[in-house]
Amino acid sequence: MKRIIVSLCLISMAFCAVAQSKIKQEHKDRAAEIVKQMTLDEKIDYIGGHESWYIREIPRLGLPAVRMADGPQGVRNNTKSTLYPSGIAAAATWDRALINQMGTSLGKDARARGIHILLGPGANIYRSPLCGRNFEYFGEDPYLAGEIAANYIKGVQSQNVLACIKHFAGNNQEWGRHTVSSDVDVRTLHEIYFPAFEKAVKEGDVATIMTSYNLLNSVHASESKYLNYDVLRDMWGFDGIIMSDWTSVYSPLNTGYYGVDLEMPFAKSMTPEVMKQLVEQGVLDVRAIDRKCQHIIQTILAYEFDKTEQLDKSLPENNPYCDSIAHELSRAAIVMLKNQDNFLPMKKGDFVVCGPNADKIVTGGGSGFVTPLISSSVALGMSEVDKKVKSLYLKPEDKDYEKKMKNADCVVVCLGHNSETEKENADRTFELPEGQVEYLKDVLKLNKNVVVVLNAGGNVEMASWIGDVKAVLMAWYPGQQGGLAISEIITGKINPSGKLPISMEKKIEDNPVADSYYENVKRIRKINPYSRVEYKEGIFMGYRGYEKNNTQPLFPFGYGLSYTTFEYSDIAVAEDGDEFIVSFNVKNTGKVAGAEVAQVYVGDQECYLVRPAKELKGFEKVYLKPGEQKAVSVRLDQEAFRFFDPMEHKWIVEPGVFNVYVGSSSADIRLNTQLTVK
Ligand code: GLC
Repeated sequence: MKRIIVSLCLISMAFCAVAQSKIKQEHKDRAAEIVKQMTLDEKIDYIGGHESWYIREIPRLGLPAVRMADGPQGVRNNTKSTLYPSGIAAAATWDRALINQMGTSLGKDARARGIHILLGPGANIYRSPLCGRNFEYFGEDPYLAGEIAANYIKGVQSQNVLACIKHFAGNNQEWGRHTVSSDVDVRTLHEIYFPAFEKAVKEGDVATIMTSYNLLNSVHASESKYLNYDVLRDMWGFDGIIMSDWTSVYSPLNTGYYGVDLEMPFAKSMTPEVMKQLVEQGVLDVRAIDRKCQHIIQTILAYEFDKTEQLDKSLPENNPYCDSIAHELSRAAIVMLKNQDNFLPMKKGDFVVCGPNADKIVTGGGSGFVTPLISSSVALGMSEVDKKVKSLYLKPEDKDYEKKMKNADCVVVCLGHNSETEKENADRTFELPEGQVEYLKDVLKLNKNVVVVLNAGGNVEMASWIGDVKAVLMAWYPGQQGGLAISEIITGKINPSGKLPISMEKKIEDNPVADSYYENVKRIRKINPYSRVEYKEGIFMGYRGYEKNNTQPLFPFGYGLSYTTFEYSDIAVAEDGDEFIVSFNVKNTGKVAGAEVAQVYVGDQECYLVRPAKELKGFEKVYLKPGEQKAVSVRLDQEAFRFFDPMEHKWIVEPGVFNVYVGSSSADIRLNTQLTVK
């Protein structure tokens, strides 16, 4: 390709199609009028949570109480509710429309309980499999996480329930979460750790944001001027409510000026006594409190919480529509990692189901935990999925255990983590919980036809056993209908279509962050009362890092097997103003219907900063009958080419030639071409 010689004119552009904010000038004006009528005591009271889950009411001013509840995968707080697949499972569907339905469904569950704010989605980037809360989040790639977050939020808010994207920002580890500073350079923040939040604001019009416990570059997120004003308010134009995570406000004065609008679950730091004294002494300008009240009130007015009853009595708490969405999601989220000699699907025969996770619904622990209304474990699912399938749930102590194991046509072994070993406020092991690999080896001594079903919020150690089993399904935490969905995939009623939203390393040392996940005491003199984690891999984390380090993961980002095969052809690029449309065909060349996630990656051939070889900038999930071919188009806007210049502190699109890759995973590129940004 002739090199296009262009003057190196750097263009800094506004990016992200900006959604219309629901908060209009009229709401801001009315809110300002109300703030003027508030007494100082009322203002100070108003910025502290009430009874742990409320924004307090002020009846004389027509301000209603506003109720909030966890969490990202189902409504929690003293209620049973629909348990959806966890965040990372939702991301593994790569299906925007389905995620929008998930949000809508969550919104209905919230309205059925009179809840105004749902404390989800969680969107922190998966930096290492060790983080205890990866299960709640959307994986390692900022573009995918942003698409999932924005569609989730639009769904929730379509039901007039406020979504709350969390935890802003740099909460990528759970160890020492109140006292760890995530030290991240500004380019890496904007290119990796911010985009899901930016897209939530600009495209999802998210109404509320929750700051994180951790420090970011030595400043607690809840009091960070950079996060809460420079980025959220000034760069992204966020007009909604910023709330703290629970008891994560550490300085009343700094938070007063630069921090959250609302201290949850109550005013532990910005107490009335302290704040009143600061104001009366002239240390804290009352206008700093006014603007917190302004953000809260304008949001409440925009969603008309002052005019409408949030409890929708027409909606059942146990909603069949919501159960069906949870089921669809789990079907689409499960990733088939291995299927040796097309061992699956097995449409009939004698099955044994066993293992520590076989007869229960597993999910991660902490505030994201939900008690489901319906429970479909793998043991139950396999017993119901089809009358041609005979399935036994066996434990080692059962009668004739060994004989029954040996006689089975297939043994489904359910392993993985659970709410005790993978949870908030702690990190987990890379290895499976103690004894599980040994258990699997014992099963293999009795029967070689083993299918492993894995529950976890991310990668686990597999290299020591995966070669011995016929098939592996990554089920994440698949929600209340997970057992049935897994059974439908094993018996071929459903063709798996999930794709990995993470890279899966062979060993933890292969991860680009392996030696910077914990505190770098040797690099940083420890004189502070807190720990420091230096994200010294910069933007080269996940597949960006594996490719740069030339380290082969066990399974690459975007990978997932199907019971059918797909062929890609006829790539073309068309210009549309300053955007490009990449088009190509995908054909189902197998014998069963299936869905393929066609992924579009972009790589800058030349730049004055180092850039990843390729970055995900588009995808489409295509459902195809056997033999069917569809034309697919993916639009690349300026955001697909931008990088953040740390010295200019702004986004740049540098003209030049870009490689375009279309593939079935980040490591299975089927088509490629180039385009020139002028
Ligand atoms: C927790 C979590 C947050 C949750 C909140 C309320 O500590 O970090 O995600 O929404 O407190 O339970």
